[in-house]
Amino acid sequence: MSLLSVDDVTVQFGGVTAVNHANFAVDAGTVTGLIGPNGAGKTTCFNVITGLQTPTSGRVFLDGHDVTRAAVSRRARRGIGRTFQRLEAFGSLTVRENVRAALDIHHGMLGWRRSTDTAADRLLERVGIAAHADQRADAIPTGTARLLELARALACDPRLLLLDEPSSGLDEQETKEFGHLLLELADEGRTVLMVEHDMDLVMSVCSTLHVLDFGSIIASGPPAEIRTDPKVQQAYLGYVEGAAS
Ligand SMILES: Nc1ncnc2c1ncn2[C@@H]1O[C@H](COP(=O)(O)OP(=O)(O)OP(=O)(O)O)[C@@H](O)[C@H]1O
Ligand SMILES: [Mg+2]
Repeated sequence: MSLLSVDDVTVQFGGVTAVNHANFAVDAGTVTGLIGPNGAGKTTCFNVITGLQTPTSGRVFLDGHDVTRAAVSRRARRGIGRTFQRLEAFGSLTVRENVRAALDIHHGMLGWRRSTDTAADRLLERVGIAAHADQRADAIPTGTARLLELARALACDPRLLLLDEPSSGLDEQETKEFGHLLLELADEGRTVLMVEHDMDLVMSVCSTLHVLDFGSIIASGPPAEIRTDPKVQQAYLGYVEGAAS
């Protein structure tokens, strides 16, 4: 059974159909990609999975449980974590304080004691930004802020981690290290679902890709199959053709 199933989900915003009868599943312990052109409905799918957006129709299952109507907080307790395409860190707090805030929310949900700097620093080291711990979050480069988002998401110890364009703002070396980190997280048994435009990254770390176009899934499968799929190439001309071999 898949960890996550998106079952015939449709989202309409007035006359706009952002997601159109989308079906896809994510297996536990994998890094899976949700890709597609701009405006295809990727972020809206994430919002449906995390509970920020109620679908017009369709259902979402986590571990076989129907969570379609579950509150965001209940889904977080069940192990869904995410990062946002638009960065959401607290600008006036330091990088370390931002992670501690996330840890404290998680600890609060579990009835645990408040977090420590040590726990926060461990997460910052994990994502490779420990050197920025004392800087204010609004003073760090975008790439570092993306990694801070990841540290904050990891603070909640998610089983399923949704990452919305996590590599934008990372340089080539940072992107490579980021790819390694994603594979490590999967090795630990976490599951990653990633929306990402960097095709080299997607092709190198994802075991399965789901392709959205105009709100519908037009292809699902391993990267090698997806890159040669004529439907995908048509939807995506430029991205897939330009991807690394
Ligand atoms: N709250 C909203 N109200 C109205 N339309 C919306 C809303 N959110 C998204 N849309 C529309 O739904 C469609 C899908 O948007 P979404 O943000 O999910 O796409 P995306 O695949 O994440 O795009 P991008 O790659 O640019 O981030 C777009 O046409 C968008 O304009
Ligand atoms: Mg988006």
